[in-house]
Amino acid sequence: MWSRPHLLGIEGLDASEVGYLLDRAASFLGPMPKTDALHGRVIVNLFFESSTRTRTSFEIAGKKLGADVINVSPSTSSVSKGETLLDTIRNVEAMHADILVLRHASSGAPQFLAKHARSSIVNAGDGTHEHPTQALLDVLTMRKRLGDLKGCIVAICGDILHSRVARSNALLLGLLGANVRLTGPRTMLPREAARLGPTVTIMPTLSDAVEGADVVMMLRIQNERFSGAALPTTREYTKTFGLNTAMLGRAKPNALVMHPGPINRGVEITSAIADGGQSVILDQVAAGVAVRMAVLEAVGRTRGAA
Ligand code: CP
Repeated sequence: MWSRPHLLGIEGLDASEVGYLLDRAASFLGPMPKTDALHGRVIVNLFFESSTRTRTSFEIAGKKLGADVINVSPSTSSVSKGETLLDTIRNVEAMHADILVLRHASSGAPQFLAKHARSSIVNAGDGTHEHPTQALLDVLTMRKRLGDLKGCIVAICGDILHSRVARSNALLLGLLGANVRLTGPRTMLPREAARLGPTVTIMPTLSDAVEGADVVMMLRIQNERFSGAALPTTREYTKTFGLNTAMLGRAKPNALVMHPGPINRGVEITSAIADGGQSVILDQVAAGVAVRMAVLEAVGRTRGAA
C-alpha cells in the first residue's frame, strides 16, 4: 500500500509501493469518468520549467479526481519579481493548498520543499535528478504490452547524463528486474552506471545497446542543462546515436519504441519510426494521466488520513 505524504523520486521506493501505484494507475487507463476521490482538495501546479505533457496531464488527473486545480507559472507570478521558492510555497499554502506539483530546474528542489511544506509535494521533474511519474508511466506502458518486465532488455539511448527520465527509469526498471542498457556520446554518459543499480550497464555504441532489446527508449539532448559543446555537430550525433529503421532492425521483432517527448524529429529519431507501428510514444502520454491520477490519489489519501 501507500503511506507517504510526498512522491519525491523513485529512489527509496520499494517494490510494493511501486506495485501499488502501477496497479492503481492500470485501473485508471482509458477514458475515465470523474470521481470525487479528491473533492474539496486544492492542487497547485507550480512549473518553473516548460512542460506540455506533464503539466497538462497533472491538471487532467486532478480534475478527474474532483480536485480544484490551479496552475502557477513563474513568468506571470511574483517569482519574476524575485520572490523565493520557499516564500512562494508558504503563500500558496496560506491559501490552503493540499498538494503542490513542482517542476524545477534545480535538482533537489522538491526534497528541500518537502522538509518545509505542510502540503504534499509531488516531483514533476527536478533538474537532472528525477522525474518519477515519467518513469512510472513508461513502465506502465511497457507492462501493458510486455507483461512482467523481469529479464526484459530496455535500451535507453542519448543524453543520459542530463536526463532525469533516464535516471528514474533506470532505478524503477532495476527494481522490477529489467536489464537496462544505457548508451550515448561519452560526454553524455554518467561515470558510474553501477550507482543506478546492479542491472544497469553502459554500452559503447547504439548498435550494442539496441541488439536484441525489447524496448528502445530514445532521449532528447537536454541543451538547456549544459553550456558549451558536448557534441561535435547535431548531424554527427544523428549519424552515431539517431534511431533509424536499419538500427531498429537490430532489436527484437516488434520491440517497443519509446520517447518521453518532446521529440526532435530527424535528430534522435526519424519520423518514420516515431510515427511507425512499433512506436508507443502516444500510449506513454495516455498512461501519464492514469499514473498521475494514482499518485495524486495516493498522496491525497495519506494527507487526508494524517
Ligand atoms: N516528458 C515530459 O516531461 O514532457 P513535458 O516536458 O512536456 O512535460
